[in-house]
Amino acid sequence: MVKKFFKEMFHYVKRNNLCWCGSGKKYKKCHIFFDERIEEMKFDSSKGQIRPPHKIINNASDIEGIRRAAVINSGALDLAGELVEEGTDTLKINDAVHEFITERGAHPSCLKFEGFPKSICISVNNVVCHGIPSKKTILKNGDILNIDITTDLDGYFADASRMFFVGKISPEAERLIRITHEIMEAGIKAAQPWHFVGDIGAACGKYAHDNGYSVVTDLGGHGVGKAFHLEPFVSHDCKADTGMLLVPGMVLTVEPMINVGAKNVTIDKSDDWTVRTADGSLSAQWEKTILITDTGNEVLAS
Ligand code: MF3
Ligand code: CO
Ligand code: CO
Repeated sequence: MVKKFFKEMFHYVKRNNLCWCGSGKKYKKCHIFFDERIEEMKFDSSKGQIRPPHKIINNASDIEGIRRAAVINSGALDLAGELVEEGTDTLKINDAVHEFITERGAHPSCLKFEGFPKSICISVNNVVCHGIPSKKTILKNGDILNIDITTDLDGYFADASRMFFVGKISPEAERLIRITHEIMEAGIKAAQPWHFVGDIGAACGKYAHDNGYSVVTDLGGHGVGKAFHLEPFVSHDCKADTGMLLVPGMVLTVEPMINVGAKNVTIDKSDDWTVRTADGSLSAQWEKTILITDTGNEVLAS
């Protein structure tokens, strides 16, 4: 009774104020029902279920901002793909992409992010992620590589990565790339409003294990949009019905890192960035930025 009274008072004060989402609408015409729905939900702390904070909910104009960054980001990935060929060094691809992004008035978000020295990540063969482009990394026939690009424009971030290959690759490498894409899509399909973020990892994990692959769990996806990395952490191998509630307006990445061998990874001591499979086996990753909508989700960057 006390609680209900308090809730009514709370709404009485805020109903005619502007909504916290920044839409410019009155609270009573915007997110009041959304807040009430969350308020009435039961969260099971034994499953780590938590409410999403308001700061990671995007309004319509935020989503437009992310879409604008994503247009440039997708163009940058297209360009990177065109430059993948035998004999090219990965710094060349980095430099061309850097120019593409900056000449469009945007910024390659990886550059100087926590000290990262280049504009994009290029991860070849047994490199899981965060590979640093280098004049010394020369692409050769049979290589598989992930190119991960994040672009920010006017304060909005879009993050995506794709797999590429050089010349003729082994059937093992071809299968890894193909199944890893299916794992990402299975995760995206599981990202539904009013369900929990753990559903994404449950779907990815099952798909990977059913196909004999391991899933890297030391790194994962993340909220994105008004910053590069936001809540929630998106595991790609975990239990369904756990973690943060997914609600319309949330933007996050699904970016499974999948290994042929064991899931364990190491970080190169020489640069403190390059993440490799501990057993030297091949690894693949695809990444998309998605928006949780009222009815499901929508891909914003790919
Ligand atoms: N784009 C990566 C991600 O998907 C992050 C790279 S951070 C960097 O989250 F510093 F390595 F560039
Ligand atoms: Co990325
Ligand atoms: Co990401």
